[in-house]
Amino acid sequence: MKKGELTKKLIESNSSLFMCPLCGKGMSFIKTNSLLCQNKHNFDISKDGYINLLVKQVRSDYNKKLFKSRKIMIQSGFFDPMLRVISDLIIEGNLNISISKINILDAGCGEGSHLINIISNLEKRNICSLGIGIDISKEGIHAASKQYANAIWCVADLSKIPFQNNQFDIILNILSPANYSEFERVLKTGGLLIKVIPSMKYLIELRDVLFEGTSKHTYSNDRVINHFDDNFGIVNNQQIIYKACLNNENIEHLINMTPLTWNADREKIAELINKDIKRITVAFDVVVGQKRR
Ligand SMILES: C[S@@+](CC[C@H](N)C(=O)[O-])C[C@H]1O[C@@H](n2cnc3c(N)ncnc32)[C@H](O)[C@@H]1O
Repeated sequence: MKKGELTKKLIESNSSLFMCPLCGKGMSFIKTNSLLCQNKHNFDISKDGYINLLVKQVRSDYNKKLFKSRKIMIQSGFFDPMLRVISDLIIEGNLNISISKINILDAGCGEGSHLINIISNLEKRNICSLGIGIDISKEGIHAASKQYANAIWCVADLSKIPFQNNQFDIILNILSPANYSEFERVLKTGGLLIKVIPSMKYLIELRDVLFEGTSKHTYSNDRVINHFDDNFGIVNNQQIIYKACLNNENIEHLINMTPLTWNADREKIAELINKDIKRITVAFDVVVGQKRR
């Protein structure tokens, strides 16, 4: 069976999870390859097997080139320690893992590799999961669906999540914006919200070159962490810091994959490439909240 067909099957067998982004009604799969709501709003499934549930299309700065570089960096192992921490948090979390399958939503999944890596880490520990990735960037979701057939991929806005209430055991929110009331709505009681936030030293060697002497040189994630705590309550915060190895090729992918370089001076970027940095600091807070009621 082709990749697109496999993903369509996954959508079909899980269509009861979906909620129409236009009217909030339930949806069902129809044989013309779309999801149709009770009010007859229709959303087609693409040939690659993703579904576009955006009510209004948006322009995103997250483009094909950025996602390609992100994927190369993820596959190089750049984020592996962070992915291991997340997988362990899920395995050790107070979840009812005896249920046959846990539902995981990756809100702001980009090109999907993190979700697939986590699902595969869980599989190795005999935890079976359904992964659903949503992202507002069609380019990200298109890349995810082309590459990975073992999850459901939707173009959707995380401030209007197109799923029914109380459906997910885990929500991942990795280096992406959050919408806590939506996360609360779609999580099951006892479900975990796991958010990855860059911390002060994240890519410091890059910021040393690009932003020395400007306000962007230093960074604090206090506001984001406090906002999480105010809205959800923090039950666990794991601080991760490590050095990732770089070579001539992946320094350029690192530059392409991060929004930090979007408005950086071209001469500074050239200086960064010439500097031949061999190791770069990766630092995150992995913050966990749990839905109590
Ligand atoms: C820095 S990227 C991180 C992507 C992925 N989690 C990763 O770590 O590779 C931020 C992502 O958030 C997505 N995003 C931004 N606003 C969003 C929204 N309102 N709804 C869904 N996704 C959004 C972007 O399209 C982008 O893919």
